[in-house]
Amino acid sequence: MSNKPENLILITDDGLRLDGRCADEIRPMKIEIGVLSRADGSCYLEWGRNKILVGVFGPREAHPRRSQRADSAVIRYKYNMASFSVEDRARPGPSRRSIEISKVSREAFEPVILAELYPKTAIDIFVEVLQADAGTRTAAINASSIALADAGIPMKGLITSCAFGKVDGQIVLDLNKEEDNYGEADFPVAMTQDGEITLIQMDGHLTPEEIKKGLELVKKGCKEILALQQAVLRKKFETPVEEPAAEA
Ligand code: CDP
Repeated sequence: MSNKPENLILITDDGLRLDGRCADEIRPMKIEIGVLSRADGSCYLEWGRNKILVGVFGPREAHPRRSQRADSAVIRYKYNMASFSVEDRARPGPSRRSIEISKVSREAFEPVILAELYPKTAIDIFVEVLQADAGTRTAAINASSIALADAGIPMKGLITSCAFGKVDGQIVLDLNKEEDNYGEADFPVAMTQDGEITLIQMDGHLTPEEIKKGLELVKKGCKEILALQQAVLRKKFETPVEEPAAEA
């Protein structure tokens, strides 16, 4: 969030944003499942100009052994930005930001993964951001949810994620890069299929009323994303029902 150039208008008089979206619209999303042959589950997801690749490995014996838990699997989430994913080259290796994103994203999944079924094992979620354009943590969570399901990890349901923000004084869904740079607030959320919130973060200032309004937008966005996630999973896993042969 930086100072906005004086003549930059992010929302026009007719309520449209720079990329032509209305306040309550998410960016176009494309999801591909099972794209990595060496991973137990994987997903490639594009959301606007974001490009995210996720590989899930496990449950497999946790190493080092001291990291094992006797009563459940350990869930590990590693968010990494490719050095070429942003305008100024991202420095390779972990940063404060990537460590924080990895932690909150892991916590977003912990309530739904049935980790107690796999003591002493690890479930690894590796996120590679190939191209970033604001909202990479939410995009990565949506992709991870698909990759976990692809790996057959038992879960109570999918996790879906979307941010809202404040731009030119208005509450809008799913900020793009310009809106993230020059907006007044960014508020990423992740939730279960039942609407239970498992991640909430805030950058900037918002009133309680603005948060209430934003959360309503996020619920709508997450519902749309959930439908896309379910469609991809159905396409891969649903066994087609055989039509009974027509009588001669
Ligand atoms: O990506 P997300 O919105 O989850 O996280 P952020 O920390 O709010 O970053 C917003 C955007 O800033 C990213 O999506 C990138 O496009 C950009 N960024 C960057 O250009 N260089 C970085 N080292 C980190 C982020």
